[in-house]
Amino acid sequence: MRIDGSTRALVTGASRGIGRALAEALAGRGATVGLLARSADEVRALAAELPGEHVALPADVSDRASVERAVERFVAAAEGLDLAVANAGIARYGPFRETGVDAVEEMTAVNWLGTVYLVGAALPHLLDRAHGHVVVVSSGAGHRSFPGAAGYGATKAAQRMFGEALRHELSGTGVSLTMVYPGEVATDLHAHEKDRMPDWYRGGPRAASADALAAKVLTAMERDARAVHFPPLVRVLGAVHGLSPRLSDRVLRALRGATAAPRRD
Ligand SMILES: NC(=O)c1ccc[n+]([C@@H]2O[C@H](COP(=O)([O-])OP(=O)(O)OC[C@H]3O[C@@H](n4cnc5c(N)ncnc54)[C@H](OP(=O)(O)O)[C@@H]3O)[C@@H](O)[C@H]2O)c1
Repeated sequence: MRIDGSTRALVTGASRGIGRALAEALAGRGATVGLLARSADEVRALAAELPGEHVALPADVSDRASVERAVERFVAAAEGLDLAVANAGIARYGPFRETGVDAVEEMTAVNWLGTVYLVGAALPHLLDRAHGHVVVVSSGAGHRSFPGAAGYGATKAAQRMFGEALRHELSGTGVSLTMVYPGEVATDLHAHEKDRMPDWYRGGPRAASADALAAKVLTAMERDARAVHFPPLVRVLGAVHGLSPRLSDRVLRALRGATAAPRRD
């Protein structure tokens, strides 16, 4: 799908991080962007700051009705929808025996159900016109789940399975889908849990840039690519893990130390 001044794009999690970088990149190409996040002031400020006309959509992706209202508001304001980006997400890292069921429920509601709510509300508009694109921001953790991220990885794998099947389901409809699998990107995703991050984690300010990822995602959409792995090592890790989880354990221990794969059996 070409991105230009006629593109109407709705991005969830647009107030900061990867979603904000995507919104900025889309606006930079002339698109009208629907900026969805819970922080009303931030999305309103961003809508005013970006070049062009944009729509602030304060909403909570874990609330189905809230997402459906936001999509309808955007479609009415922008007179249609061409692109829906399911990006909003949260992380609650830590061993499951410590973080417990509540953290998994919370991540499931935002990362996984939030994706389903957005795609469910957006898809009829795209299918009606037999034109458009869906982007789902999963994670490298959807390919290889890490200790301390059992619940997080599960929500990211759910997005992956959903998106991979949906891309095939959309064959011949004029609508397509691109999956995004970031590795460690410099955002505030883990800012609230710095003290709890596992030793294998190498994120933070020196991680890959959200702007560079956003540029790759725009190119991938325009090429109708099946997936973006960023940085490219994420693809290698996914392939190695698919062939032999034991081999990916060994590679990760070499790269990230013993905490990345403590068991050797
Ligand atoms: N950063 C990484 O290293 C990395 C790696 C792999 C995958 N990812 C994925 O990339 C996506 C974006 O993460 P990020 O790194 O950009 O994180 P971030 O900087 O923390 O941004 C998260 C965005 O999601 C929004 N959000 C959170 N809960 C929401 C809710 N209930 N309803 C609506 N919006 C909500 C936040 O806005 P409000 O708080 O204002 O609602 C914010 O705009 C996530 O799906 C994450 O899993 C990130």
